[in-house]
Amino acid sequence: MIRRLAYILATLVLIASCASSPKETPQISIVPQPGFCQQTEGVFTIDRKTPVFVDFTDSTLLRTVAFLNERLQKAAGFTLDVIQDDPLDHGAEKGIFILNAGWKKEAYNLQVSPNRLLIEYVDGAGLFYAIQTIFQLLPDAIFADSRQKGVRWDVPCCSIEDAPAFPYRGMHLDCCLHFFSMDFLKKYIDIMAMHKVNRFHWHLTEDQGWRLEIKKYPLLTEKGQWRKETVIGSLYSGIYDGKPYGGYYSQEEVRELVRYAAERYVTIIPEIELPGHALAAIACYPELSCGLEDHYETATKWGIFKQVYCPKETTFKFLEDVFDEVIELFPSELIHIGGDECPKASWKQCPHCQALIKREGLKDEFELQSWFIQRMERYINSKGRQIIGWDEILQGGLAPNAKVMSWLGEEGGIRAAQQHHEVVMSPYPKYYLDYWQADPESEPLAMGGPTLLRTMYEYNPVPEVLTPEERKYIIGVEGCVWTEYMPTPARVEYMAWPRMCAIAEAGWSTAGKDWDGFTRRLEKHLGRLDRLDVGYCKAFYDPYIDLRKDTEYSKVAVISVDAPDAEIRYTLDGSEPTAQSALYTIPFAINRQQTIKAAAFRDGKKIGTTKYKNF
Ligand code: ACM
Ligand code: ZN
Repeated sequence: MIRRLAYILATLVLIASCASSPKETPQISIVPQPGFCQQTEGVFTIDRKTPVFVDFTDSTLLRTVAFLNERLQKAAGFTLDVIQDDPLDHGAEKGIFILNAGWKKEAYNLQVSPNRLLIEYVDGAGLFYAIQTIFQLLPDAIFADSRQKGVRWDVPCCSIEDAPAFPYRGMHLDCCLHFFSMDFLKKYIDIMAMHKVNRFHWHLTEDQGWRLEIKKYPLLTEKGQWRKETVIGSLYSGIYDGKPYGGYYSQEEVRELVRYAAERYVTIIPEIELPGHALAAIACYPELSCGLEDHYETATKWGIFKQVYCPKETTFKFLEDVFDEVIELFPSELIHIGGDECPKASWKQCPHCQALIKREGLKDEFELQSWFIQRMERYINSKGRQIIGWDEILQGGLAPNAKVMSWLGEEGGIRAAQQHHEVVMSPYPKYYLDYWQADPESEPLAMGGPTLLRTMYEYNPVPEVLTPEERKYIIGVEGCVWTEYMPTPARVEYMAWPRMCAIAEAGWSTAGKDWDGFTRRLEKHLGRLDRLDVGYCKAFYDPYIDLRKDTEYSKVAVISVDAPDAEIRYTLDGSEPTAQSALYTIPFAINRQQTIKAAAFRDGKKIGTTKYKNF
């Protein structure tokens, strides 16, 4: 039997004995910030002889512990012996001790002293997150893909108590507007899991392409994966590339990804859009539409299309068949049914839809949409699953058990919570990672914005107007990655990181907001993302020049930089700013003849790129 108390007492004595201010050991910088974290003096050094004692024989938990050895194998060139026994029976003085302790789902504690690294986990997820935290306590080199020579694998002594703020911590990826490989999706999930993000919202069907193999309807991927070409630049450009574009995930690949994610405590939530964003499916099976057109084609530009599912028995049969396969593939309790941006023009003209509205005593097409979604909800509930949909599922009345993903600002989320429906906050533009994160003048095309890192960080996902009772219905947060203007993995990573770190922190951390502390931790954290070859945006080091209207003829310049302890130096004569240029302290007025050029400096050295702005 594990004598848990004995370890805790031993550890407490050690912490007390080294509880003066830390000197040489590096400052702890964990993203997302743990609920409680206190650094103490000294380090626990992991070497090839460090034993790992675990109090379980369960294969899932052993797989979870194996993540520690996989990283060590890669970066340190050794693995640790995992001993399924009581360390006291081995007379073990030193080692990593992993013990179960009941507390809160996904929670863990770490007690690190020079001789012992004690992990108290609650469940597999808690153990996994403890290991993720240990990686972030170790030198960055632990994230390297190849053997790092001359590194001491020191974990600073500390005491950490950590549990999530919200059960749902999500990240979305639209794989329809652009398609992404399985390898990239695995990397995406790895980086999510590193940030304790536990829901991958996989957007699989759209007007511009159907990406999920459905055995009963092979045309969906044979034909529906393809669009004949893609708009170049903005959706309004009118210029097309003339190249067929396609891609889909086989059911075997889906199963593989679901397993891969589950090992990392990430649940994949599939999204099958209805009743709108259905043109790719309709192009394959025109009978799913209201039949107002002679010919349907997968969309070749972005936007909203009026060709939507017609609520006929044949359509419901199709959708039920699709969901049968989806439910078989994805164990997730939640199934995303889309629900956003469904134009009502076709339903208004369709004799079947109009007759249905009369027959069911519905007020209008909005109530028809609600009727459609309620019918699908009944089917999905009958299979033991729950639906979640975008805000618009509130139109015409919310389905009885539906959860809402609030994207149209906060309004929908607030209304749903007031109606006692669970809500995930993913408001546009605050949590939309497809918006610019730096000055649009010097960035490639994006959806809009900018939504700066600081704006994302400071957003509070629990709206103030909700009562304490209603606030309980906010179950979490999600960052949205729509890929109109992200044709490559590099572009996705650039747009998503490091802003997603801020959303992950809102989802996980109970420590409260502290922008300055966040930027200090984030700067260390960027070194980890470098090691993992995540091509994040480096706007963190660049000044952001905002010209705000003062009078009709004048503007004031407000300049900021995210990197901590940085000075902003600027010029107004077009010259390159140097460490000797004017120091920015407060907003100043500028005139039409002037160009502001600004750069950030630390210790006399430029740390980012020069940014400029004309009136
Ligand atoms: C959305 O961005 N249409 C949910
Ligand atoms: Zn119709």
